[in-house]
Amino acid sequence: MRKSIYLLSAATLALAAASTSAMAAGKMTLYCSAQEDWCQLMARGFEDASGIKVNMTRKSSGETFAQIKAEEANPKGDVWWGGTGDPHLQAAEEDLTQPYMSSMRSQLHPWAIAQAESAGNKTIGIYSGALGYGYNSDLLAANNLPVPACWKDLLKPEYKGHVQMANPNSSGTAYTTLATMVQLFGEDGGFDFMKGLHKNINQYTKSGSAPIKAAGRGENTIGIVFMHDAVKQGVAGFPVVTVAPCEGTGYEIGSMSIVKGARNLDEAKQFYDWALSTDAQNLALEVNAFQVPSNKGSNTSDKAPDMSTITLIDYDFKTYGSSATRKGLLQKWDEEVSVLPQ
Ligand code: F6P
Repeated sequence: MRKSIYLLSAATLALAAASTSAMAAGKMTLYCSAQEDWCQLMARGFEDASGIKVNMTRKSSGETFAQIKAEEANPKGDVWWGGTGDPHLQAAEEDLTQPYMSSMRSQLHPWAIAQAESAGNKTIGIYSGALGYGYNSDLLAANNLPVPACWKDLLKPEYKGHVQMANPNSSGTAYTTLATMVQLFGEDGGFDFMKGLHKNINQYTKSGSAPIKAAGRGENTIGIVFMHDAVKQGVAGFPVVTVAPCEGTGYEIGSMSIVKGARNLDEAKQFYDWALSTDAQNLALEVNAFQVPSNKGSNTSDKAPDMSTITLIDYDFKTYGSSATRKGLLQKWDEEVSVLPQ
């Protein structure tokens, strides 16, 4: 009897010790807007590095913005990692995120810091990547379609039903596409382009990279995506060719922000600092995420799109990441493009 009481209290003590150490290690909620495999790796990588338990949800950039906005009075997320910079800038402007000056800033490229400074340090650049498109070369040949090289090529009637992009409301990739066309061709010209493109679109997906994954599987011919997402399909062995459009193109500064009112602020800051380290950023290469990392010491794959050979526009993040411009362009796309017959 005495022995079993002793065993019981030893077990109770061990359990109590285990739960105290779990409490000490902490937990946090991560909203992730990069690719699912990279999000999982970042969550598990941080758990291993810190002992902090990560509860991760993956949603596209526009969807995550909408979720943080909806939870404004009762925030549930701690860190929003990944996704295009524009909705992170909008979140900063709408006071949904909070400033943080990480000790890692000195290791970052100037473009990552510029993103932070333009938003009162409520966000920061974690990677960059150029917009473009990719096509399935087998499907293109099987359908006797010409090889596209420019944005305007995608308006050709022979591509009807062969082009896919995401919905710019949910997807940061698709919003970058819309904002890029407006910057390349002017507001009227940009919307004319989106209306012409609409005739050739077979589906607007929720997630930005879905159109090129579908091309990889042979279910779609041309996908408008970030070039690194098209390269990933080619590296995986699918017959996907990546195109840097001849007119020039926009780009993203993938970003990270701490949610205002984060319940686990200490853990959020630890994740934030770790995510800016070379160790964390080098994880990208394990999942063929070919963006350009923001830490000057992180590795970039030789398979990654070579930004120096791509004609980039001077993408105006301040304007296209502002609340008024993003809301206005999305409303106009909803009212004037998405409703058109195909
Ligand atoms: O991780 C791939 C990626 O293309 C990122 O570069 C980008 O920030 C994100 O996905 C955008 O995803 P979505 O268009 O679904 O918001």
